[in-house]
Amino acid sequence: MLPLKNNQNMPAVAFQNVSKVYEGARGRLQALSDVSFDIRQGEFFGLLGPNGAGKTTLISILAGLARASGGHVRVLGHDVVSDYAAARKALGIVPQELVFDPFFSVRESLRIQSGYFGVKGNDAWIDELLQNLGLADKAGANMRQLSGGMKRRVLVAQALVHRPPVIVLDEPTAGVDVELRQTLWQFVSRLNREGHTVLLTTHYLEEAEALCGRIGMLKQGRLVALDKTSALLAGRASTMLRFKTDQALPEAIAGQARVTGRIVQLKARDAADVEAVLATLRSAGVAVEDLEIGRADLEDVFLEIMQQGEAA
Ligand SMILES: Nc1ncnc2c1ncn2[C@@H]1O[C@H](COP(=O)(O)OP(=O)(O)O)[C@@H](O)[C@H]1O
Ligand SMILES: [Mg+2]
Repeated sequence: MLPLKNNQNMPAVAFQNVSKVYEGARGRLQALSDVSFDIRQGEFFGLLGPNGAGKTTLISILAGLARASGGHVRVLGHDVVSDYAAARKALGIVPQELVFDPFFSVRESLRIQSGYFGVKGNDAWIDELLQNLGLADKAGANMRQLSGGMKRRVLVAQALVHRPPVIVLDEPTAGVDVELRQTLWQFVSRLNREGHTVLLTTHYLEEAEALCGRIGMLKQGRLVALDKTSALLAGRASTMLRFKTDQALPEAIAGQARVTGRIVQLKARDAADVEAVLATLRSAGVAVEDLEIGRADLEDVFLEIMQQGEAA
């Protein structure tokens, strides 16, 4: 088993000028461009970005499942290409896709996975994983009998059988029920408190806001933001104005508004900004309902950063 505590100056994960080009029948696609950042030991790090931004590609390179076209990736100092076995052993990866072997029971598949990492006599930890992931009564069930949510739990358990110091979760809650989300976050947060580093990709921004101490944002293969979650929230539009209307917005504010059906959201720097927006609406004769003024959340920040990227 690998120690959780290493030289604390060494990053848990170091991405250095990582690029990836996919060449295929439909041509050339630059999935990652010169991505560099470190994840420190013990961090709970969130990697965010819209679909196709390159999150899974970056994780595949980290996991040694895909080769970078340029740059280097190290896990606790081990290069994922030249020192693959050591790097892989330091990682527990929960893949985005549900991949599993249909012929084994849950417990068998966890024993096989332990064997793959050379971990013997692992039953006590396997029992703890089953317990903590709500799988105890499914230990004897065949993998193919399980629902999608249960398979997802087994994938999490499989990733953790060798107690990896670095845990990587690629959209682990996409399409899963609320109960599993809560079970998963309780357990992963506990592992993080005990010293495990966590790298999470998700498009549930409220999850990232609640869990991640630091966040990186990818857009079209480029890192467009990297900061503490609190700093991202503090440094951007601090106030959001939300209301409902059935009418068209005046031109002066339509361009900055985020409209979802009848719901309109607008950012405001301060109280004077809020007043100006309301005055514009009033003079345009737009009737608003359910007006709320609230703090910007990570989703607001995310959308603002993604829009800026477009303008650049
Ligand atoms: N194996 C592949 N071959 C060709 N293109 C790929 C492959 N995997 C991903 N892509 C493309 O690379 C881009 C990034 O995809 P991905 O890393 O899956 O993004 P994300 O996980 O952020 O949604 C997308 O445009 C996707 O279509
Ligand atoms: Mg993905």
